[in-house]
Amino acid sequence: MGTSRRLDQLLSSLGYASRKEAQGLCDEGRVTVNGQPWDDASARVDPTHVAIDGEAVDFPLGLFVLLHKPLGLVCSHDDRDGPRVYDVLPRRWLLRDPKVVTIGRLDKDTSGVILLTDQGPLVQRLTSPKHHVDKVYLATIDGPVGAKEIAAFAQGIQLEDEAECCFPATLTPVDDTHARVTLREGKYHQVRRMFAAVGRHVSALHRERFGEWTVEGLAPGQWRPLPLP
Ligand code: URA
Repeated sequence: MGTSRRLDQLLSSLGYASRKEAQGLCDEGRVTVNGQPWDDASARVDPTHVAIDGEAVDFPLGLFVLLHKPLGLVCSHDDRDGPRVYDVLPRRWLLRDPKVVTIGRLDKDTSGVILLTDQGPLVQRLTSPKHHVDKVYLATIDGPVGAKEIAAFAQGIQLEDEAECCFPATLTPVDDTHARVTLREGKYHQVRRMFAAVGRHVSALHRERFGEWTVEGLAPGQWRPLPLP
């Protein structure tokens, strides 16, 4: 059950139509509420009971999804920055209000779990180091890491041009050219810069997990809805 809203307002905030066009959709017989054809776009309706062309409107009470980010996409909204994660998602999501954003960012050259939402407090809750939400990365590196590097990560790496040290992070060697890193913050290019600080170059980076969420079952470019926490 959702709190009732004007249908034209609802459809425009979900990116389906402008408020004016919403009446047109009703006139064309494309909108139903509770399965019944609906002809008045100015009437209040329960958002969870609205369908267009027989399909329930998506995420009427708030959007939260997990995308398996492929390499080569940016998390920015600005298409001058290159192909965006938003370009592999339904187009109407770009028209939603509140705006759909990524929860933190991954670099263009990093793949893996990226979460998106239109819920501001959720962004805060999942990105703030205070809330201890782990992000786990698998890095491909140019040489082995051992006790010295593990201790440096655990102590908190001092990045160049940063006033404060990173929070303690867990570094787990996998083999001579791979290691796993668990962080609870998300500074710009953080994993690459942390490895650079201990003399290792990262040639590939994949985020395996963000909190409880992984890309299991999703090919790059695929997404799935998540229940709003
Ligand atoms: N650290 C990086 O260096 N890049 C990312 O995309 C995420 C974490």
